[in-house]
Amino acid sequence: MAESIQTQVLVVGGGPGGYVAAIRCGQLGLKTTIVEADRLGGTCLIRGCIPSKALIHVAGKFEAMKEHVGAGKLGIRLDAAPQFDLGGAIDWKETVVDRLNGGVTALLKKAKVRAVHGKAVFVDAKNCTVQTADGEVQISAEHVILATGSTVAGIPSIPYGEHVLSSTEALLQREVPKRLVVIGAGYIGMELGMAYARMGSQVVFVEALDRILTLFDRPLLKPVEAWLKHHQIDVHLKTKAMAVVETADGRALEVETAEGERKLLPCDKVLVAVGRRPATQGWGLDKMAIDMNGAFVKVDDQCRTSMRNVWAIGDLVGEPMLAHKASAQGEMVAEIIAGKRRSFNPVAIAAVCFTEPELVGAGLSPDEAKAKGIDIVVGQFPFAANGRSLAMQAGTDGGFVRVTARADNHLVLGIHAVGAHVSELSGEFALALEMGARLEDLSGTIHVHPTMTETLPEAALAALGHAIHA
Ligand code: NAI
Repeated sequence: MAESIQTQVLVVGGGPGGYVAAIRCGQLGLKTTIVEADRLGGTCLIRGCIPSKALIHVAGKFEAMKEHVGAGKLGIRLDAAPQFDLGGAIDWKETVVDRLNGGVTALLKKAKVRAVHGKAVFVDAKNCTVQTADGEVQISAEHVILATGSTVAGIPSIPYGEHVLSSTEALLQREVPKRLVVIGAGYIGMELGMAYARMGSQVVFVEALDRILTLFDRPLLKPVEAWLKHHQIDVHLKTKAMAVVETADGRALEVETAEGERKLLPCDKVLVAVGRRPATQGWGLDKMAIDMNGAFVKVDDQCRTSMRNVWAIGDLVGEPMLAHKASAQGEMVAEIIAGKRRSFNPVAIAAVCFTEPELVGAGLSPDEAKAKGIDIVVGQFPFAANGRSLAMQAGTDGGFVRVTARADNHLVLGIHAVGAHVSELSGEFALALEMGARLEDLSGTIHVHPTMTETLPEAALAALGHAIHA
């Protein structure tokens, strides 16, 4: 007979949205059950953010080691070229994933959350069945938090398969493809394509739009474009991927340019990175009588859906499809269910792209602020003038920090950066915006010397017209 579970809160999906919601519910004393079809941790921990960052790290380390061969660099000389074994890198990456997966499992247990492994299929808004390895489980809940996340989008004429990879398979390869064509020069395509280039693939990008990484403005992209140029990586802009075709020497991606010209790009593997879509299919969402907002589940500023006591968070409810947004919404919903007054109204959700070099965006860019009719001042400071950056070989990639503020009261509207290691500055950027900092707050906060963080007060001083070191 099927096991029956009555729970106060049922969380569907064990990614950074769902597991955080479940832990917080458990901490708040709510009887909580979480259902996950795959491994706890979701796309982010298992097949997205974390494994990709692990591979990006390995790729960077390998490329850096190559610089020491022969004449050497920094006084370090290698007699022979380093050898790269992607299989070994993947095995190490799995240890990182396993450790985090174990951590999530332990945290849920500590919070007394029951984890059910299998796919939840809803029969109505508060009831679902899960086929587990031990048989069917029926779950009935007072509150349901939907956190099913997103799945990779694809190109119908280029189906996924042995030679056509999604980001998931790109993180499982055991051999570096000699020639890799990446379709889509967005977040995923750029991060993974650059990593493969550093691992030794000849990488080519195909992008339908007239530019890469549309989330970031052109001045920020300059160092990234310079890196691509330096590595002789072609980016075919305004070009559409059409089909993979077999050729005399293997295979090729057939593309069409804006002028309608067809070309063949020879390749061994193709990575398709053309976006993600909310995971709304195959688990009974249509039985829940919930209003949609286009492809996404419609929610208000407390992540309530149109069905009473059914909540939705993360990629399922819209852009930005970022893990940290999902976690913040999950924590909030748990607290609202427990009776606290909360709403989701962040000043900014910072985004980081782990390219070469890295990019950070938090709040409004100068163009976005101007488009809103705001009179602004902008200050910028280069890492080339920062001692710590130079001492870490991180100051020569053209990177900088840029602060955008209102001209009248100096309220900081946006902070952006490009450069090696800038991802680690993103927290301070977000904090400054969330706290309503003014330029004088940034410049008046004593930042540790020597650190890369000193560039932020310098950029603020530049906006005020008197940077010290530039
Ligand atoms: P994306 O939306 O960033 O980029 C997809 C690109 O593919 C677009 O530039 C689009 O113009 C292009 N494209 C679409 N169809 C095409 C075709 N037929 N031929 C050529 N180009 C085509 O999507 P991506 O990179 O797949 O990432 C998905 C989501 O995952 C992002 O929205 C992001 O939020 C999240 N993500 C976040 C990361 C981070 O925070 N560091 C890293 C990776 C992904």
